[in-house]
Amino acid sequence: MFYVTDLERSRHFYVELLGLNVVHETPGALYLRANEDREWTLKLELAPEAGVKHLAYRVGTPDDLEAAARFLDAQGLPWRWETEHDRPRLLRFQDPYGVPVAFYAESVKHPWHLQDYHLHRGAGLQRIDHINVMTPDVEGVMRWYMDELGFRLSEFTEDEQGRVWAAWIQRRGSVHDLALTNGTGPRLHHFAYWMPDMQSIIRTCDILAGARMPEAIERGPGRHGVSNAFFLYIRDPDGHRIELYTSDYLTVDPDFEPIRWALDDPRRQTLWGAKTPRSWFEEGSLLEAYGGGWAEPKEGELRGLPVHVI
Ligand SMILES: [Fe+2]
Repeated sequence: MFYVTDLERSRHFYVELLGLNVVHETPGALYLRANEDREWTLKLELAPEAGVKHLAYRVGTPDDLEAAARFLDAQGLPWRWETEHDRPRLLRFQDPYGVPVAFYAESVKHPWHLQDYHLHRGAGLQRIDHINVMTPDVEGVMRWYMDELGFRLSEFTEDEQGRVWAAWIQRRGSVHDLALTNGTGPRLHHFAYWMPDMQSIIRTCDILAGARMPEAIERGPGRHGVSNAFFLYIRDPDGHRIELYTSDYLTVDPDFEPIRWALDDPRRQTLWGAKTPRSWFEEGSLLEAYGGGWAEPKEGELRGLPVHVI
């Protein structure tokens, strides 16, 4: 859920150019989904400052939500119930590393647009894919989500001392639901949508160029080494980073072995060797603290290292 400072400017970007579908709107908020999403997957809320309210995950049943509340009690983490449009109960808390999280079990479903091709617009975003969080403690966050919440490791970047610098973890059998990137945080690095094909990603570049917004294209298009995905990073009018992503692989095999990348292997970021801009390493969206205000970012150890290193 993004806070944005000019809702009409954001509507132009997300609805008219990217083609997200408006599920619901109020004078201060837009609830958006991509063509395959059966429920809204991105809320834009008007606010004085840009930032991120929380990152939400769906749990299987209302009983799972109650179990999550008991788990948070056992962890000594404060939580509260909140409500959102189409979602009567959100369990809102902050993970031990300062990331605002909401779990929910029930959400209203809307008519499926996947095969309503005549309703697809703009870049043609298909479905929510993953989020990426910047943190100075990748290993700590990774361990908590794996040990406590059952996430599984797909790929990781490691230095010669065995220290983890980046991790891709998942619960649904794709490469990742959550990626962790070393850097100043906690901050959101990006929010990613799956695209139907590579051509739709290239078309996004043409759409942004046609709208005289080439500065919104930050990195790519290109092919990641990690995840094998074809990607593009763009920045919304408030600077929130969106990744458009396609063509990764499945991790559902019970004997799947995580893939290790050496920290000094440049192919992991871009298989083709293209340079990554500095802004990609240094900039991210602030996250709302549980008690209000912004979670205070702590400086990561990225600074001072060559920009091809995460
Ligand atoms: Fe990503």
